This record gives sequence, structure tokens and C-alpha cells, in this order.
Amino acid sequence: MTDIQSDAFVFFGATGDLAYKKIFPTLQVMVQRGQLEIPVIGIARSGWSLERLRERVRSSLQEHGKLDDHACGKLCAQLRYVDGDYGDDATYERLRRALGDAVRPVHYLAIPPSMFGPVARGLAQSGCGKGARIIVEKPFGRDLASATKLDATLHQSFPESAIFRIDHYLGKETVLNLLYFRFSNAFLEPIWNRDHVASVQITMAENFGVEGRGRFYEEVGALRDVVQNHMLQVMTLLAMDAPVGRGLDILRDEKLRLLRAVRPLDPREVVRGQFSGYRTEKGVAADSRVETFAAVRLHIDSMRWTGVPFYIRAGKQLPVTAMEVLVELKHLPQPVFDPMKKNQSNYFRFRFSPDVGISLGARIKLPGVAMVGQATELIAQRDAGDDMTPYERLFGDALRGDPSLFTRDDCVEQAWRIIDPALDSSAEPIEYPVNSWGPEEAGQLIERDGGWHNPMAHEASA
Ligand code: BG6
Repeated sequence: MTDIQSDAFVFFGATGDLAYKKIFPTLQVMVQRGQLEIPVIGIARSGWSLERLRERVRSSLQEHGKLDDHACGKLCAQLRYVDGDYGDDATYERLRRALGDAVRPVHYLAIPPSMFGPVARGLAQSGCGKGARIIVEKPFGRDLASATKLDATLHQSFPESAIFRIDHYLGKETVLNLLYFRFSNAFLEPIWNRDHVASVQITMAENFGVEGRGRFYEEVGALRDVVQNHMLQVMTLLAMDAPVGRGLDILRDEKLRLLRAVRPLDPREVVRGQFSGYRTEKGVAADSRVETFAAVRLHIDSMRWTGVPFYIRAGKQLPVTAMEVLVELKHLPQPVFDPMKKNQSNYFRFRFSPDVGISLGARIKLPGVAMVGQATELIAQRDAGDDMTPYERLFGDALRGDPSLFTRDDCVEQAWRIIDPALDSSAEPIEYPVNSWGPEEAGQLIERDGGWHNPMAHEASA
């Protein structure tokens, strides 16, 4: 399957929101870079014409991208449209014709997971799936049982090597920088373990709500929406061992080894919150128990990490939009000068967004007679360099057949195994005010490890 370039890009859900906001802008950039010289076929069951889809491309680029008349014109010329129901054989016959000579298409499923099975079957039975790759969007299932079932359904029509499960965090430059930094610096490996690391915390804060996606969010909540995937992926990159050997699966093999060592969540180590006013959002039930905030404590039962707590916190309507990791190092056994407080020095801080930075917390002496100091940071910083979006990178990889940055079936299932015990939605989430850092109970969860480090909105002000 590898290193053989795909010769058509087919996307289901062509008239939907995701295509409008993310996919068309990505496709235009790929055209600009000369990375998409193949037919692009949109499929939907909206009763549209090709002309209408082209108009939609244009307005998507105006609203969510940077309209480039030349590249947009080229993309529209490459565009084809197939209209029809995903359960109808005739739709796949039309797709077969639209594919023409293509023998190795990529099919991207930007559609609800309930439709993955019927579409995979339709593709396989019509021959459109022959030699093809299939890209599926998150959320991949709702829990371990449904993800396993979904895998079984997809495997009836496609081998695992042809299935590319997208988690856009894995295409982010800043997340990949974490992987690079960890395994390119000799000073890190000797201290990256239970002997030197006291605790790890990962925060993903968003200062907005569900933005009209209330109906979707009601089906997921913070644990399913970002913790099971984005946050666990980041934790895995932070904690895994270095990949060994050669081959396309070495990264995923190592991630799997790490995930296997993570204990399933203990509901007593989970805090679920809901921001005030969530229940009045469009599409949200008046008595909704869906969490818009989650804080959890995780344990990794491995030689490297036993005894080191990993905290994850994610929430909507928090004071800032930012993502950070704080790896707190163990303190000196004896303070020689002034006593140190937790989280105030001796840490690595990885900042993923909105700006990028890696800092090492340290103490330096204050000028004067007394041997007292202050906390400071040694900072490596640069702008996010966002010229390549996650989707652009990941589509490019899928078209080339490189699965390294996609989630494999066993890794998805391990992630659900870890999260599953926390998914009991019968419990009432704790209400927290908009613009706060979530329920107080989240603070209590991490109190013994020095409390949360709250990211600032901009590094410049840090
Ligand atoms: C998505 C979630 O997967 O990731 C959203 O569904 C969330 O709820 C988003 O806001 C965050 O992604 P990013 O790239 O903006 O950090």
C-alpha cells in the first residue's frame, strides 16, 4: 500500500459543515502547492449540482480560507459531484463512473460514524473500494464496545492497512515538535522517568462554548470529544519510549505499548463539569448531563512511570484558549538556600497554542546580600509556523499511504479502554461559571501535586 500515490480524492459529506470550514480551504492549499493533481469527487445526498458545489467551494474559501482565484479555479475544474443516498447501490455506480481510470482512490468519510459501515460496504461491493484507502473522522465510536464493532464493520470491507483514522492533533506542527524534541535531545532521556519526574499535567483550555454545535456536543461531551483522542495522544507522545527499528508502524507500535500500560480511569479520579448556561444552548437538552469540562488523574504502570501521576484537564468557556503541558521535576532532596514551592521551578513547560514555546523552569539568585532567588524560565520560543495545516499534512500522508500519524485500531481501542469507566453520564456534572477554570473539585484532584498551572493567553505576558 505504501509509497504508491493515490489517483483520486473522494469525499463523502461534501455539502456538510466540515467540508465547508476545513476541507475546501485545505484542498485549495494542496492545489497551490501542486500536491493535488488528481480528480476530486464530492459526494452528498443533498440534491445539488456540480455548479452549486463549486459555488460552495468559493464561498468556503472566502469565509474560511484565503481565496486564490487561480487555485480555486483549478480546484473547481478538478471537482466532480455525485449525488445520492449512501445506502443506495446506484450512488456507488455513479461514483464508479466518476472515478474513470482511477485505480487507487482515497475515500474520505466526513460523515457521522453511523454511516461508516454502509459506505464501506457500498464501496467494497461496487468495486470502488478496490485498491483504495479510506480516511475516517473522529469520534471513532462512543466507547470500547462500539469502537470494536465499528472496527469489525470496516474490516469486513477494508484491511487495517487501508484505514486511516484521523486525529488532527497528530498533524499539528506543535505536537510533532514534542515528539521531535523528546527524541532529539540527549539531556532529556536520562531524566524522563519516575526518578526525576514528579507529575505531569496537560491542559487544553478553550474560552468559547459549543458554538452552535450543541446537538453534536450532546452526543459526546469533553471526555469523548477531546480527552479520548487529542489529549491521550499528547500524553502518549510525552510518555512513550523511543521508537525502534524501521518501518511505517514503529511509532504506532510504541504508542500501543504505552497505552497498554495506562490504568483504566478510576471514577473517583475524574471530575466532570458543565458551564453555566450550557443547557440553554441550541440543540442541548434542558436537563443535559453532558460534561463541557473534565479533569482526570491517570497512572501508567510501567518501569518508567510507576508512581508518577498524569493529569489531564480540558474544558470549554475557560478564561483563555491555550494548550500546555507541564512536566514537574522532583525537587532537590535538601534545599540549600530558600525553600522551593511546587510548580514554581524545576519543570519543563511545552506550549502548543496559541503560540509555541518550550521552557525550562529554573531559579536564579536575586541580586543582593541574601542567598535568595526567584523563579525564571529558560525559553525556546518561535511563532507557530502554521503554513501547513494538520489536514493538509494528514491528507498528503494518506494520499502517499503513510499511516504513521493516523490512529491504528488497537490504539483506538486501548484509548477507549482507559476512558470507558469515566463515561457514566448518569451522574450530574458540577456547574462552573463561564470564564473560570472549572469546578473547584478539579483543583482538589491535583492539590497534593501542587495544583494546576493555568496557561496564560499570550506568552508575551507570561
Ligand atoms: C475538535 C473538537 O476535535 O477539536 C472541538 O471536536 C475542539 O470541540 C477542537 O474545539 C480543538 O481543536 P484545535 O485544533 O482548535 O485545538
